Amino acid sequence: MAQRFDAIVIGAGAAGMYCAAQAGRRGLRVALLDHWPRLAEKIRISGGGRCNFTNLDAGRIDRFAGENPAFARNALRALPPERFIEQVRRRGIAFHEKHKGQLFCDDSSERIIAMLRDDCDEAGVRWLRPVTVEAVDPDEGPQGRGETAGAGAGAGADAGAARGGFVVRTREAGELRAGAVVVATGGLAIPKAGATDLGLRIARRFGHRVVEPRPALVPLTFDPQAWKPYAELAGVALPVTVRAPGTPGAPAFDEDLLFTHRGLSGPAVLQISTFWRRGDPLAIDLAAGEDLAARLVEAKRATRQQLSGAVAALLPRRLAALWLADERFAAIAARRLAEIGDRELAAVAAALRDWRIVPTGTEGFRKAEVMAGGVATDELDPRSMQSRRAPGLHFVGEVVDVTGWLGGYNFQWAWASGFVAGQAVGRS
Ligand code: FDA
Repeated sequence: MAQRFDAIVIGAGAAGMYCAAQAGRRGLRVALLDHWPRLAEKIRISGGGRCNFTNLDAGRIDRFAGENPAFARNALRALPPERFIEQVRRRGIAFHEKHKGQLFCDDSSERIIAMLRDDCDEAGVRWLRPVTVEAVDPDEGPQGRGETAGAGAGAGADAGAARGGFVVRTREAGELRAGAVVVATGGLAIPKAGATDLGLRIARRFGHRVVEPRPALVPLTFDPQAWKPYAELAGVALPVTVRAPGTPGAPAFDEDLLFTHRGLSGPAVLQISTFWRRGDPLAIDLAAGEDLAARLVEAKRATRQQLSGAVAALLPRRLAALWLADERFAAIAARRLAEIGDRELAAVAAALRDWRIVPTGTEGFRKAEVMAGGVATDELDPRSMQSRRAPGLHFVGEVVDVTGWLGGYNFQWAWASGFVAGQAVGRS
C-alpha cells in the first residue's frame, strides 16, 4: 500500500529543507525527497564553498528580477534576512560580511547544510533519499478524498484541480500519497549538481504557465572570430559599470569585469546576464563612473605623457594597448597629450565609457548559477506559494519565476518562500 503523508516536499535543497522543517514543526507528517546522493549539493558548492547565505539588502524587492518581482515581497517580509541571520547566530555559525552586504560562513557551507538537516530532524521530517520523483498526479485512487477532477493526463485547466490530494510517483519508493505537495526542485542550472526539469514538468502538467527558462548569473560569450583580440586579455579584471540598454528598467551594476578566452565574466557580467536579452548589446563604462575626459585633460596640463601612457595609467595596461590599437585611436595613441585637442580626448574618453558589444550567447546552464524564468507567479498565491489551479500544490525557491541578484539573494528567496509554504501547507 502506498505510503501516505500530510505533505510531501520534493527537493531537499535550500527551499525544500527550510519548508519541510517548518511544516514538520507544525505537527504535520512530512516526507522530504531528493534524488541526489549528496544532500544539498548547491548549498555545498555555493559561495566558493562558504555559502553566501543571505544579503543584508535581501529584503529589497528591487534586487529581484522576473515578470513580477513584487510577488516576492510577502515572503521576504515574512522571513527577512535578519530572521535567517538570527537563526544562523543561534546555531553558533560564524560568518562575515564580504562585499555589498553579502554574508558568508567563516568556515564552510557544510554548517548551513547541517543546520537545515538538524532542523528537519528535530521537526520529525521523514527523509526519503536518494529517491527520484518521476511525476506528480492528482490522486484518483480509493485513498484520495474522492473530489478529484480532471482525470485526463496532460496540462490544462482540468488537470489542475486536485482536491483529492496527490500521488507522487518515484523510481525507488513507488507511489507516495499526500494531501499537499511542495515542489522545491530548483532550476536547470548545473545538471552535474542534480538539477532537473521536474518542477517545470509538474507545473505544466497542472496547467501552469512557465516563463521561458534561461541561464542567469552566467558568463557571456562572443563570436570566436570577433573575440580573438580580446581573448588575449583573458585574466584581465577591472572595475566597470555595466548596463543592458536593450532592457528597459534594468539596473546598472558597479562591479568587476573579467576577460575570459570565450567572452566576459566576473560579477559585473554575471549580474547583467540576468537582464541581457539575446541580440542586444552590453554598454560598459570601463572607467566605472570616473570622469575620464576630465582626467585626460588634467593629465594634459600636468604631464608630458603620450595618450597611450595616460590611458595605461587609468586602465589595465594590456587593455589600454588593445583599445588604442583600434583604428579610431591608433593615429593619436603615440602623440603627446599636449598635441591632442580636448575634443579628441573627450572622444577617447567617451568611447571608453560607453563600450558597446553584442554577446552571441551565454555559457549556458552548465555554468549558470541560477535559472531565470520558471513557474509564472500570476497563478501562485504569494502568501503561501500555493497554486491557484491545484489547491494543495505549492512551488518554492528557484523553480518559481523570481531571480535574485548575485550576492545571497537567491538563498534568501529560497528560505523565505520555503518558510511561507511551510507555514501554509496542509491548511487548504
Ligand atoms: P536547489 O537546487 O537548492 O534544490 C533542488 C533540489 O531538488 C536538489 O537537491 C535536487 O537534487 C532536487 N531534485 C531535482 N530534481 C529532482 C527529482 N526529479 N527528484 C528528486 N529530487 C530532485 N545563491 C546564493 O544566494 N548565494 C550563493 O553563494 C550562491 N552560490 C551559488 C554557486 C553555484 C555554483 C550555483 C550553481 C548556485 C549558487 N547560488 C547561490 C544559487 C543557489 O544555489 C540556488 O538559487 C538555490 O540553491 C535554490 O534553492 P532551491 O531549493 O530552489 O533549489
